[in-house]
Amino acid sequence: MRRRHKMLGFAFSLLFLASCERAQQYPAAGAKPAPVEPPKANVEELSARLSWIAPDERRDLPLHFVADTSAEWAQLPAFWTHYPPIRPYLAQGPLTDVAALVLANEHVAIKVKVPRGLPDPTPNFPPSNLPTYGKWRLGKELFHNRLLRAGGEQLSCASCHVPEAGFTNDSNRRAGGKYNTLSLVNVVYNRGQFWDGRVHTLEETLVRTLADERNLTDAESRAQALQHHVWGGFVRELVDLKDPDLNLRFDLVFGVPQPTQDTVAQALATYLRTILSGDSLYDRADQLRRDQKALTLSAEHFRDLVKDDKTAEFLLDGLKGKPTREALPALLVNGYVLFQGKARCAKCHTGPLFTDHDYYNVGYAGDEGQPTDKETGRAAQVPIGLKEARLIGAFRTPTLRNLARTAPYYHDGSQRALGNVVEFYDERVQPTRHLAKALQDGDREQRLRLSQYEKNALVVFLRALEGQALDPMVTRK
Ligand code: HEC
Ligand code: HEC
Repeated sequence: MRRRHKMLGFAFSLLFLASCERAQQYPAAGAKPAPVEPPKANVEELSARLSWIAPDERRDLPLHFVADTSAEWAQLPAFWTHYPPIRPYLAQGPLTDVAALVLANEHVAIKVKVPRGLPDPTPNFPPSNLPTYGKWRLGKELFHNRLLRAGGEQLSCASCHVPEAGFTNDSNRRAGGKYNTLSLVNVVYNRGQFWDGRVHTLEETLVRTLADERNLTDAESRAQALQHHVWGGFVRELVDLKDPDLNLRFDLVFGVPQPTQDTVAQALATYLRTILSGDSLYDRADQLRRDQKALTLSAEHFRDLVKDDKTAEFLLDGLKGKPTREALPALLVNGYVLFQGKARCAKCHTGPLFTDHDYYNVGYAGDEGQPTDKETGRAAQVPIGLKEARLIGAFRTPTLRNLARTAPYYHDGSQRALGNVVEFYDERVQPTRHLAKALQDGDREQRLRLSQYEKNALVVFLRALEGQALDPMVTRK
């Protein structure tokens, strides 16, 4: 009986393995990494194929994240890799096959190769929601499900967080929303969620209380959706679908007979935590610097990286005074030096994600035309008795990775280009009463008096923080 159990469990994990999209095997020691292979089996068939499995034979695969600081990182051939390798075992005789697989089964996992330059996200996973393949797959499906009500409209997460557009869109304010849509790229590293940090975990960004699930009128649901990011009735609608396939998968993954607020939030959050983009030009240059054990970045570290036409065009696009391609390595390194020093950007945009995760009033008038000295932004979300004056009109320091596709910028989406943002810091910071200390060290009017060359250098440096395209496994519907 025990043996039968083991064999069934083993068969089930094989199914999971076979059903992963574009999965890769660890290469044998010393071998070249295997080429990227097309998907072996369609995950859409998964639930149908699972239907014969007895309920107590659940077996999900944990996701392990491997950052570039780990020795294992270089061995991983792709974003998504099965561990341990099974193919070498299968080449042997049938008996040893099975023995090896049953053994390996105890340690089976999917390894996620965290893009270069990004820290290990593992400490950011709440112990109550450790990532697994089953949760991830459900989360990805829910992300594209058009069951979110905003007035008369039926939306999916992807309607606003458009995967092809950096998981954001540019129209939320025009539609009557309170804030500019945040990108979901690298959200696993957030310490608080939303522009004003009003919730703590990614699980809470979707469903927060049972009251969120009550019946709403069209006008109420639209206001809740656009003003508060509350999607009332979503979970109820999922339950009402009475979809046996979906219910079975919730059962297998979470052990609940149908979707619940908690499990839907956990699945979605698991998916969001795999939306990772790094390995930017800056990360590669910094890697070279470390390889050479140099203390500071120099133009040399960038030189070979900006040689191809596409990269050069992307970096130079639309700059005033049309700097030449030959000027790029120097522009990049000067941008970096300005960012860290004179332009004082790194006082807040610091660390590998270029944010200190804090909240500041940046003296920004925004599209309301008034500097924000009212109790808006972070201050409105802090409980009475804990409010600090510096949080009045303060918003979260956003990451500066992957800005090329996430325009417009700022909490109200009122800046359309990176050049505008740099000009804002150069000469339009308003001396509001609650202006961040870090921004008070310009001249009396907070002006930095940057030259055109310096402004270009900053823009080029910001563009060099653009990560590689996301893995299609994550972006594809
Ligand atoms: C109508 C457009 C819209 C839809 C639909 C939508 N969002 Fe959002 N999302 C936004 C906006 C706008 C923000 C910023 C809101 C804020 O800061 O208050 C945001 C913020 C977030 C954040 C916070 C990111 C951060 O860095 O703090 C997460 C996570 C998120 N959304 C996930 C989702 C998920 C999951 C779904 C689907 C269940 C979804 N969103 C559906 C517009 C939308
Ligand atoms: C006092 C801390 C602080 C300093 C210094 C600072 N920033 Fe910011 N930055 C922020 C905050 C906070 C926001 C969001 C403000 C808002 O939306 O109201 C922001 C927004 C941005 C954005 C928009 C990103 C997006 O996704 O919308 C960019 C780009 C940016 N900063 C670049 C820079 C550069 C370049 C410098 C140096 C010239 C700089 N910042 C200096 C805190 C700072």
